[in-house]
Amino acid sequence: MGKARMKDERRNRYRRLRASQTLRNLVRETTLTPHDLIQPFFVVEGTDKKETIASMPGIYRYSPDLLVKAVEAYRKAGGQACLLFGIPGKKDTTASQAYAAAGVVPKAIRQIKKTFPDFLVATDVCLCAYMTHGHCGVVHGGVIDNDKSLPLLAKMAVAHAGAGADFVAPSDMMDGRVRTIRESLDKNDFSNVGILSYAAKYASAYYGPFREAAGSPPRFGDRATYQMDPANQREALKEARQDVDEGADIVMVKPALAYLDVVALLRRKLTVPVAAYNVSGEYSMVKAAAAKNWIDEKAVVLETLTSIKRAGADIIISYHAQDALGWIEEVRSKK
Ligand code: PBG
Ligand code: ZN
Repeated sequence: MGKARMKDERRNRYRRLRASQTLRNLVRETTLTPHDLIQPFFVVEGTDKKETIASMPGIYRYSPDLLVKAVEAYRKAGGQACLLFGIPGKKDTTASQAYAAAGVVPKAIRQIKKTFPDFLVATDVCLCAYMTHGHCGVVHGGVIDNDKSLPLLAKMAVAHAGAGADFVAPSDMMDGRVRTIRESLDKNDFSNVGILSYAAKYASAYYGPFREAAGSPPRFGDRATYQMDPANQREALKEARQDVDEGADIVMVKPALAYLDVVALLRRKLTVPVAAYNVSGEYSMVKAAAAKNWIDEKAVVLETLTSIKRAGADIIISYHAQDALGWIEEVRSKK
């Protein structure tokens, strides 16, 4: 260890590259763009409905007619893709509304596509919001039955595809659902409809506000027998590889922030696009702190979304998407 090394260290003036906005613009490694984002929307039966959600300020449940207006505003802001969640008028123990051709999600898809054929519509495929018991699969004797759930999920995917969905996004975490859905889509002439699988979906407390929004909390027990243990990383790779083998076009990690190591791992190990879901609890925490003026919402949101992209996400699903679109443009044009 001599003088040479000391001299080298003195030469490392990393601050040179941070000296001006121009330099920072030139050397930036990760740039968030409007193309990276997907906005989730909740849709309810009826007309002329725009319901607030107490734990998610700024997010609403729209009836299909007003959802089209919301999509119009989102498109005007520069948005190009959404993820739809349905809240049915009636729940039962077979989730019949989940795969009804005239269900709330097919209705919403048709209306959006009639007005905006090029707007990308992905749909959440899961039974929990349609089941009286609130579980993501069929329940038998208090147990969530994997294989009995698969045909219902496949029918739901086909119903969405039939209405014009571009992508279906199974979020149930039953084993083998990607294969079953792929086969059913192909059999019904929907080989062009893609599968965005919630491949590494953790049993997370960050879904709390969503369950209020969608009225979908489990009425007994929890989701730990099908969603992943938050402590596991290798298992995420196993899940994602399996989904790709079964025909997933895009794999998702969910939630995003507490699982950025998983996002980075899947990006490194797989060749398919990786999506990350910046979930309801992550959104609500930011909104709550911002409402108290404890944080700068715009700066925190852009930092958060950029960190998800830096970790390796090609696609980010976020309730902040619409706000972020405007903020991205503001920052981009900053001199
Ligand atoms: C349905 C589903 C959930 C979310 C997406 N799809 C809730 C859950 O699994 O309990 C969570 C989304 C969010 O929190 O924003 N299975
Ligand atoms: Zn579910």
